Amino acid sequence: MSYLFIKNANELITVKGFSHEPARKEQMNELGIINNGAVLMKDETIVAVDETSKLESSYPEEIAQAKVVNATGKVVAPGLVDPHTHLVFAGSRENEYNMRLQGASYMKIMEEGGGIHATTRATRKASFEEMYEQSLRRLNKIVEHGVTTVEAKSGYGMDWDVEKRQLDVAHKLEEEHPLDIVHTFMGAHVIPQEYKEKPDEFVDLVCEEMIPKVAELNLAEFNDVFCERGVYTPEQSRKILEAGKKHGLLPKIHADEIEPYEGAELAAEVGAVSADHLLKVSDRGLEMMAEKGVVAVLLPGTAFFLMTEAADGRKAIDAGVPVALSTDCNPGSSPSVSMPFMMNLASLNMGMTPAEAITAATINAAHAINRGETVGSLEAGKKADVVIWDLPNYMQFTYHYGVNHTETVVKNGDIIFSKRDL
Ligand code: NIG
Ligand code: FE
Repeated sequence: MSYLFIKNANELITVKGFSHEPARKEQMNELGIINNGAVLMKDETIVAVDETSKLESSYPEEIAQAKVVNATGKVVAPGLVDPHTHLVFAGSRENEYNMRLQGASYMKIMEEGGGIHATTRATRKASFEEMYEQSLRRLNKIVEHGVTTVEAKSGYGMDWDVEKRQLDVAHKLEEEHPLDIVHTFMGAHVIPQEYKEKPDEFVDLVCEEMIPKVAELNLAEFNDVFCERGVYTPEQSRKILEAGKKHGLLPKIHADEIEPYEGAELAAEVGAVSADHLLKVSDRGLEMMAEKGVVAVLLPGTAFFLMTEAADGRKAIDAGVPVALSTDCNPGSSPSVSMPFMMNLASLNMGMTPAEAITAATINAAHAINRGETVGSLEAGKKADVVIWDLPNYMQFTYHYGVNHTETVVKNGDIIFSKRDL
């Protein structure tokens, strides 16, 4: 049995009260801040959260046995949740970045056999060990940015063996790394080049062979598809998401990124847990998502890196959609592991307040991967996932941009990263 006690936080951000349902509209500004706050953890679980003096008088024996960490002058908050990453892949695409900076378009590069196809070629060639090593390095960088739970998609194999290898790598990372990883199958990431002339055959392969095997081997919890003109049509996407549902995989969707394509509408109709990207979402799409409680996972780093206008976070929140944030970490459209930077961009480019950005990166991000009951807020009974930020107040989070303010990261009650000698 081991206790950890973090005390004297200038601001302890709880984001409490939204474990059952994500925060919406003005709720997204409710951070549940406790001044001079503390959190007491026992093993992997939070025991209590309150003012330091109150916990000291209620739990003297536990605190006497605890490892004590002083957070005087700092912000303490729930570990960040990154609910949309393409964590496992091989190689990198800085050559395409260079081409885009000279005017080439992301979709055009892909149509000509680069983009996702280029990473698919690199991933197909990579061994399990190579892929594991590269992904582990990314995961360790993710931790350094205050993230304690991360979703990981397959989708750079698009043939069964390589899709499985990617999912196996993610499972091995989960076993060996302290972070929690949530698994998503994304066999339908693009139309593989060998199916260019017969996309429906690939859709059938995904639906009839890959999805049943993913479910049977328990390799993923979610099933995702890139619904976009030139990639999967709404009809094909619906078929893929319904096939997943039949096998117990929960739907997620890359929707309305490049042009309006009724992806958000489809997400609401199939009961998706989240619809992600949404740069070009229609008003009707937002309305339907709000009605069905589909979480909007907004990816401001992708818009930033593709040099396009970001999704309208303000509009989505005002429409009553629960909004979450994510890095979309991938080698083509967002090679970043920094959730704090996404929070900067959410405020500066998507009209979200610093408080809304924190809610979107914690409890709402947890809901986007069905983990709202266990992570994303500091409340008794939840996982002891806590980050100390080297900042005096939460507003500085997105104010001092371009700096990594992570000081100490606690995952399941263990200090897994710290810039201090603890
Ligand atoms: O979410 N939009 C589709 N898929 C990824 C990009 C993957 C890549 O370019 O390698 C995304 O942006
Ligand atoms: Fe993505």
